Amino acid sequence: MNPTITSHVPLATGLPPSFLWGVATASYQIEGAAAEDGRTPSIWDTFARVPGAVANGDNGDVACDHYHRMPQDVALMKSLGVDSYRFSVAWPRVQPGGRGPVNEAGLGFYERLVDELLSQGIAPWATLYHWDLPQELEDAGGWPARDTAYRFADYAALVFERLQDRVDTFTTLNEPWCSAYLGYNIGVHAPGRKDFDASLAATHHLLLGHGLAVRQMRSSETRPHTYGITLNLGTADPLGDTAEDHDAARRADGMGLRLYLDPLRRGSYPADVVADLAARGSALPVLSGDLDVISTPFDVLGVNFYFGQDFAGTDLEGNTHDASGEPVVRAVAPDTPRTAMDWPITPSRFTKLLVRLHHDYPGLPMVITENGAAFDDSPDSTGFVADDDRTAYLASHIAAVAAARDQGADVRGYFAWSLLDNFEWAEGYAKRFGIVHVDYETQQRTPKQSALWFRDTIAALR
Ligand code: FCB
Repeated sequence: MNPTITSHVPLATGLPPSFLWGVATASYQIEGAAAEDGRTPSIWDTFARVPGAVANGDNGDVACDHYHRMPQDVALMKSLGVDSYRFSVAWPRVQPGGRGPVNEAGLGFYERLVDELLSQGIAPWATLYHWDLPQELEDAGGWPARDTAYRFADYAALVFERLQDRVDTFTTLNEPWCSAYLGYNIGVHAPGRKDFDASLAATHHLLLGHGLAVRQMRSSETRPHTYGITLNLGTADPLGDTAEDHDAARRADGMGLRLYLDPLRRGSYPADVVADLAARGSALPVLSGDLDVISTPFDVLGVNFYFGQDFAGTDLEGNTHDASGEPVVRAVAPDTPRTAMDWPITPSRFTKLLVRLHHDYPGLPMVITENGAAFDDSPDSTGFVADDDRTAYLASHIAAVAAARDQGADVRGYFAWSLLDNFEWAEGYAKRFGIVHVDYETQQRTPKQSALWFRDTIAALR
């Protein structure tokens, strides 16, 4: 890595030496080796083969070939000086089909990864589910089926048994809202279903699976661990000061944030959301005792933040209800510069979110488990990417975290999304979030300017 190229973006400040710095990835987005060592298809292998589902018809068969290049990728992390690496475990690698005994060859990969990380002084942070549900479990009903929650807890226990001696932090789910809403309601993510009630059932069973998994892991631990869940959280502000816009913001916040955090932290679903659902003839499939399981205490909230939005209660013609009679909840991007995903860049709303979480769900340390941005990077003739835009994004959002801490929010770490350019779900390889550039023809990795800035920031704050 060229130590002489530094960014003109000032290094981040205002965070203590104890702050945890890391980089994040997810199994299907980087590993490749989709059919190796006994791995069976997940819902993403299937979905990526549906014509039109993923940009350019891309899939994760090869991805960043991390499965074969893992030691080199860990060396890259080491060169950045990160404290921790957040990776996810591929369920269909470890327990093909989602049931039965461990597949030794598949689990062996994660044992080698953890050993490699520890030998380099990097703390492994394991996520148990980052969206690669075994296809057999989807065929049996997927997350809308209650049994999937129990299957998840069993799988979690298998992984935990084998890694608990070396891994301190286990997060259950990554972004259950995306699994439930994008996967089962609007169908833009795997498994591509479009059924509102199925997505509600998926929400409940994902949360139930989280609680069951935390209980199983904690009851079999041989030493104390840190358990958590990662949510994708944004801010929902009314576009204007009208009753309709305030109600739209309330609904968006209810379905996006409180539907998850209220049961996890308060042991109940939010009453206004339950009433909204009842008004449309829907309900969460809650059985007696479920909310006790879901509200099982855990130790850290993983916050993934990309942007905040405004909400309007009217469509562009001024209607307050859509064709099916549902109230309009129209997301409007704030008037700011955007990333290549067309996502608005809203660091001040990040501060606002973290301070709000601190007040509304107190007593829970937070770690930023993802934050970052896609921009259309082009390498220069030497292969270097001078990504001022991404560097500025990271700098402004790390500053937003420092500002939230100054206002009392207990945020203890920050993981950049992502270590590598990778398979960005429905966007395929077209959108690049990496702080390290990947040439998909040669699999060459080249740290971008943002990676060097991140490295220098971490070093300066120690
Ligand atoms: C999050 C996902 C992550 C990545 C980023 C850009 O929703 O958790 O895998 O795709 O968005």
